[in-house]
Amino acid sequence: MEWGMANRMAQLIQRDGHALFLPVDHGYFQGPTRKLEEPRRTIEPLLPYADALFITRGVLRSSVDPDNSKPVILRVSGGTSMVGKDLANEGITTSMEEAIRLNASAVGISIFVGSDYEKESLLNLSKLVNDGERYGIPVMAVTAVGKELEKRDARYLALACRIAAELGARVVKTYWCEGFEKVTGGCPVPVVMAGGPKVDTELEVFKFVYDGMQKGSIGVNLGRNIWQNDFPIAMIKAIRAIVHGNATPEEAQEIYESEKVEKD
Ligand code: 5RP
Repeated sequence: MEWGMANRMAQLIQRDGHALFLPVDHGYFQGPTRKLEEPRRTIEPLLPYADALFITRGVLRSSVDPDNSKPVILRVSGGTSMVGKDLANEGITTSMEEAIRLNASAVGISIFVGSDYEKESLLNLSKLVNDGERYGIPVMAVTAVGKELEKRDARYLALACRIAAELGARVVKTYWCEGFEKVTGGCPVPVVMAGGPKVDTELEVFKFVYDGMQKGSIGVNLGRNIWQNDFPIAMIKAIRAIVHGNATPEEAQEIYESEKVEKD
């Protein structure tokens, strides 16, 4: 691996081999997502506990100070919205030159395997990998399911993750699922887990993050289940303890309970 690529990967994946990415890119198709209405207010208190931010160029420029940031994974796919015809019909929104200008450590793009736009999104990934490899910028592929959340099973996610890796993604972001070892086992590049819509209890989140880590994931790219929580700092600290401290779900719950005493 070229020095530049290796150095960028090392900015993202920490020395223990694990990573906690904080995604705040949801507005690119959801608009002002709950508790991300004012991105700066959401992002600033959580930054110290994140290894990297997954973010669009607009929110990066407007809401993150360049002298107080973390490595950036730049969201570079989009062009669709929640109210449009098909979320899967994304294009590449940002040039590699822009990613370099913003000093991005990686770029991120969604793929929609099985959708009407499967081919377009996979060729977009391939093009991005071609450009990224030329400049030493890793590509994170996001195995997106649009509104079809029920697609998130091991068979589908293993297929999507493997295709992303085959096309050259350096990291793959997917969802946790039952039988997650099938997903990580079939994917020859590091896998991080997203959370999806906020679930009912913190313990559920801690359990799936822990299970996914035991089954070969290197960490998380977890957004709403952190910043939509009433105590987001307590939440990110507890998740960090699992990802980087090998804490059990019960230990993470204790951390959450003790940290949430002080209102974030
Ligand atoms: C949204 C994304 C997010 O980065 C990803 O879904 C992770 O966030 P969450 O944990 O909230 O699902 O790709 O476009």
